[in-house]
Amino acid sequence: MPKLIAANWKENPRTEKEALALFRATAVGARRGAAGAAVAVFPPFVYLERIAEARRREKKERVALGAQDVFWEEKGPYTSEVGPGMLRSLGVRYAIVGHSERRRWMHETDAMVNRKVKRAIADGLHVILCVGEGPAVRRKGIAAAKRFVEGQLRKDLAGIRGPAARRVTVAYEPVWAIGTGKYDRPEDAAAMAAAIKNFLKKTHGFSPRVLYGGSVDSRNVRDYIQLRAIDGAMVGGASLKAAEFKKILKKT
Ligand code: PGA
Repeated sequence: MPKLIAANWKENPRTEKEALALFRATAVGARRGAAGAAVAVFPPFVYLERIAEARRREKKERVALGAQDVFWEEKGPYTSEVGPGMLRSLGVRYAIVGHSERRRWMHETDAMVNRKVKRAIADGLHVILCVGEGPAVRRKGIAAAKRFVEGQLRKDLAGIRGPAARRVTVAYEPVWAIGTGKYDRPEDAAAMAAAIKNFLKKTHGFSPRVLYGGSVDSRNVRDYIQLRAIDGAMVGGASLKAAEFKKILKKT
């Protein structure tokens, strides 16, 4: 299976015009990149429709589409929420769930994350579940970080088993490495990825793909994705600069 590079645009860019331009530049990079990685972009909800349209019309299906979040109900009186069926109807394949920024700023709990993952995979989306320890936990050492991440996985994936579980990918994103320019040592990230796979094999009967995220750029991306336990990368800041993101794809 090819490695996956996930471009998480977060609350960027500021206009639809810029979003379309970034999508087009990303698609060119994806086409030129070596045989290597699969690419998915995660724009804000409001841009998904236009990007989906451009993707289809301009034959840029090589780039998969993802959403940055998804709600746990299909439809109903839940102001501002977006359900998995709505996303699928636009051709969206992936949804990020449980990103640390949502846990922090929107107070998303593991119980909420669990409901979202369950509904999204039942409705046919592929979920990228984000987990990762904060700086205080990491200061206690790698073993403490592992325990923390396993705790998140236990809660976030409670009750998830069987064939639908294959639609779960885990992104290990240590919170202290996100947007800080401080990245995890590749060998530590790989050890965590292997631990996540082993843990879920034992507890849930499946071994997911695991991405690394946290200050990935064109200089360090290869250090991660060349490791066997790491199945790709989630890229935030560096995915917003078309030239830099193209360089990342070239390295895959
Ligand atoms: P970053 O973000 O690449 O800007 O550190 C990664 C993420 O939050 O997914």
